[in-house]
Amino acid sequence: MRRPIVAGNWKMNGTRSEAATLISGIVAGVNSVNTAEIVVCPPFTLISVVADALAGSGIGYGAQNLNVHDVGAFTGEVSGPMLRDLGCTYVIVGHSERRALYGESDDLVADKFRAAQQHGLVPILCVGETLDQREKHQTEKVIIRQLDAVVDTVGIEGFNKAVIAYEPIWAIGTGMTATPEQAQEVHRFIREKLSGLDRNIATNLRLQYGGSVKGANARGLLDQPDIDGGLIGGASLQADEFLNICRAA
Ligand code: PGA
Repeated sequence: MRRPIVAGNWKMNGTRSEAATLISGIVAGVNSVNTAEIVVCPPFTLISVVADALAGSGIGYGAQNLNVHDVGAFTGEVSGPMLRDLGCTYVIVGHSERRALYGESDDLVADKFRAAQQHGLVPILCVGETLDQREKHQTEKVIIRQLDAVVDTVGIEGFNKAVIAYEPIWAIGTGMTATPEQAQEVHRFIREKLSGLDRNIATNLRLQYGGSVKGANARGLLDQPDIDGGLIGGASLQADEFLNICRAA
């Protein structure tokens, strides 16, 4: 059985005091969540605040990005060993905003995936197509390309300890959620594609959906057989809304 996993991607939001309020709201409600694993990914500056507040709560935390190098002259960057030092368990790699706004290629994302695992972090690998690609029926082609880069770098075994988030770019932050059927279709495709390489790994791999998930639409999405949780942006910044999604999982 795959345990559902709901992760909050806070993006570039929050001061320390705002983070303290948000995280205490989440911790206060966590007992009402039965089965799902809960993770929050704050900005780097808030990780230690969040870590302190989460001690003993059962909620995990991670980062939104990492550099492929361990140490050195890389101004402005943060490495896997640094994230481990903060007690992170997860790290998001290849979010579409990083691919689009910071030019992260499939190969760089694959190297980040490998760097994360080398330091004992579980990568949450984001994949997904633009609206234009969907309309041109290129969704599967794009996702194969994004997955193949990682498989070529770490092998299918790399997915033994990883999470994939399918995030159609047209649904991120737009309020335009994929329908449960649209999301399930791509999730099934991802699982089948990886199943062709290793059935066992694909069966156990958790696949999150991301893109305008809210308390109100979470259940329909999370009820789908190949959707094992969500990667939540905007709605993860409100404790009640985030907890509603966690309860739906
Ligand atoms: P959203 O973002 O929930 O605000 O659409 C999801 C994401 O970018 O991970």
